[in-house]
Amino acid sequence: MSRILTGIQASGKPHLGNILGAIQPAVALSKKPDNESFLFIADLHSMTSIKNAAQLKENTYAVAAAWLACGFDTDKNYFYRQSRLAAYHTELMWYLNCQTPFPMLANAHSFKDKSDKLADINAGLFTYPVLQAADIVLYQADFVPVGKDQKQHLEMSKDIAAAFNRTYGEIFTLPESLIDEAVMVIPGIDGQKMSKSYNNYIDVFLPENDLYKVVKKIVTDATPLEEPKNPDTCNVFKLFTLVADSEKVAKMRANYLAGNYGYGHAKKELFEVLWTKFETERDIYNHYLSHLDLLEEKLKEGEAKAGIIAAQTMNGVRELLGFN
Ligand code: ADP
Ligand code: TRP
Repeated sequence: MSRILTGIQASGKPHLGNILGAIQPAVALSKKPDNESFLFIADLHSMTSIKNAAQLKENTYAVAAAWLACGFDTDKNYFYRQSRLAAYHTELMWYLNCQTPFPMLANAHSFKDKSDKLADINAGLFTYPVLQAADIVLYQADFVPVGKDQKQHLEMSKDIAAAFNRTYGEIFTLPESLIDEAVMVIPGIDGQKMSKSYNNYIDVFLPENDLYKVVKKIVTDATPLEEPKNPDTCNVFKLFTLVADSEKVAKMRANYLAGNYGYGHAKKELFEVLWTKFETERDIYNHYLSHLDLLEEKLKEGEAKAGIIAAQTMNGVRELLGFN
C-alpha cells in the first residue's frame, strides 16, 4: 500500500491549471487499489496571501467541491482541511523549522519570486515550505503528486525530513514527488503560468456566459483575421490542445496555418470544449456548493480519520524529542 498525498491552496477558486495539473492526476492515482490518498485543502498556506476570513472559507468550500466534482472517493481515502488539524500541522512545523537552514528558505521560489518587495512579505510566506514539509511527513506520505512548479518545495520537504531523521532518529518516510512531465505548466489567459495569485485563471465551473467572457480575454497577438497564424505561440491553441481531442486539435492547427481563421473563432471553439467537457463536474460542484451541509459532513469525516494518523505520527515525534 502506498500513501499518496497532495494539497491545494484555498487562495482562490479552483481553475483549469489546478484541475489538469493536480486534481485529475491525483484523483486517478487515488483510484488505484494499492493506494490510499490524502487530499487536503491547504487553507493555512493560503493565509500567506488571503487576509479575509469569509473569503478564505468560500474558497475552501470551492476547492473541496472541485475535488469531489472530479471524482475523489472520500470513503476509500482521506479528505480534510489543514486548518482543522492545525494543532498537528503547526506543531510539527515548529520542530521542522528548527531543522531548516535559513539559506534553503531564502532560495525558495515562493519567497524569492516576491523578494523584491521584502516589506510585503510575511514570515508565513518565508516559512511556507516548512509547513508544506510538515503536511507531508505528518501522514508518512510515500508519493506527492504535484505540478512542475512545486518540484523545489518537494525537494525541500525531503531534505527537511531527512535532517530530522538524522538528528532524532528515523521516523519520517522520505516523500518522492510525482511530477507528470506530460502535464505542462498550464498557461493563464495572459500567457503566464495560470495561477489564482495572478488572477489570470479559467474557472471551468463558471456559468456559460461568464466562462465565455473569460475565454474571450485570452491574450493573443494582432495578426489580422485573413493571415495565417502560428499555433505554437498562441495561448488559445495551447489551451485547446490540453482539453480537446486530437482530431479537433489537428483541425484547429490546420485552420491557424491556412489563414482566414481568427482568434475569435478559436476562442469560441475552446469555450465550447470547456463547456461540454466539464459538464458533469460542473453539476456536482454546484450541487455541493448549494448543499454546504453535505460538504461539511464529508470534510468532518475525513478530518476525524486523518486526525488519527496525525496523532500517531506526533506521538512518535514527541517520544523522540523527549516531550512525552
Ligand atoms: P495557484 O498557483 O493557482 O495558487 P496552487 O499553488 O494552489 O495553485 O496549486 C495547486 C496545485 O495545482 C499544485 O499541485 C500545482 O502544481 C498545480 N497547479 C497550479 N497551477 C498550475 C498550472 N498553471 N499548471 C499546472 N499545474 C498547476
Ligand atoms: N504549496 C502547494 C501549492 O501551492 C500546496 C501544498 C501545501 C501542498 N502543502 C502541500 C502540495 C503538501 C503538496 C503537498 O501548490
